[in-house]
Amino acid sequence: MGCAMTDIKIKIGNKEFKNPIWMASGTFGYGKEFEDFLDIEKIGAIITKTVTLTAREGNKPPRIVETPAGLLNSIGLENKGADKFKEEMYSYLKKINTKIIISVAGGTGKEYEECVEKLSEKNFPDAFEINLSCPNVTHEGTKYQLIAQDPILTEKIIKMVKKKTKSVVIAKLTPNVTDVSEIARAVENGGADAVAMVNTYMGIAVCAEEQKAVLGNVVGGLSGPAIKPMALKAVRDAYKKIKIPIIGIGGIMRGMDVVEFMLCGATAVQVGTANFVNPDGYDLILKEFKDYLKRKNIKKLSSLVGKI
Ligand SMILES: Cc1cc2nc3c(=O)[nH]c(=O)nc-3n(C[C@H](O)[C@H](O)[C@H](O)COP(=O)(O)O)c2cc1C
Repeated sequence: MGCAMTDIKIKIGNKEFKNPIWMASGTFGYGKEFEDFLDIEKIGAIITKTVTLTAREGNKPPRIVETPAGLLNSIGLENKGADKFKEEMYSYLKKINTKIIISVAGGTGKEYEECVEKLSEKNFPDAFEINLSCPNVTHEGTKYQLIAQDPILTEKIIKMVKKKTKSVVIAKLTPNVTDVSEIARAVENGGADAVAMVNTYMGIAVCAEEQKAVLGNVVGGLSGPAIKPMALKAVRDAYKKIKIPIIGIGGIMRGMDVVEFMLCGATAVQVGTANFVNPDGYDLILKEFKDYLKRKNIKKLSSLVGKI
């Protein structure tokens, strides 16, 4: 008998995930787009591109630009709306043998509520990720630009959606705040099962030659290796304040990045921008992560979480 492999299954709410390395919203389509590149059933969970109650065209182009250490995007939640999404994607998504998490967003609390209600079925999806943090859309009912900059509204919306679904509820937060741990606590108070952090950091790319902003929307969200150190700090700040699990996101390109997020307090992670760089890179990230566990003789994943 060889030495036993570390058990990499994790539990969030009442759901068990085959591993803690997932695909981030907006970077993996609805899964289908990546079938030719990898075995998508190896992935711990797939988070869909964000769905809104009604269709959205997104922002004016250009909507994505490469910067020295990451991507700047201003997609603006382009999607066909909840009804069309359900009609076109549900039968496909239900057949995939891994956890499916549907990302939802809205301009008001009522829209979040209706969207979750519409998309909830008896045993599907496994979870909703409540995107309270898209930097490229406007909102009502708050003086803040993003919902997750307002702890009171954030808590209220989580409470509202929790009442409408039996699926696990994960709140996705923005790092564009003074103290992200305050928002993480609001989400915990609202009854979320977990918190996912971070969404992108707001930024601008400028073309000096043409003397104008590169993106049609001027402001976009920065992702990729550039944000990893800041995202690690955000996770650690939240870890010190809350008890619900944290799903770490921001610049994960290799297996070691996953370990770093766990050491800062993440129970699971999501891979985003890396999917654009290497659409088939998931297998290597998972392998490197498993190799690390073996090399360091880690028996339980929980022994890594929050260790620094
Ligand atoms: C092109 C692009 C589109 C994105 N779309 C969404 C989205 O629809 N919903 C969402 O919650 N996050 C969206 N994100 C944010 C990612 O899910 C992730 O939080 C962020 O990119 C940081 O992770 P990364 O550095 O690994 O990319 C998007 C990111 C990119 C680059």
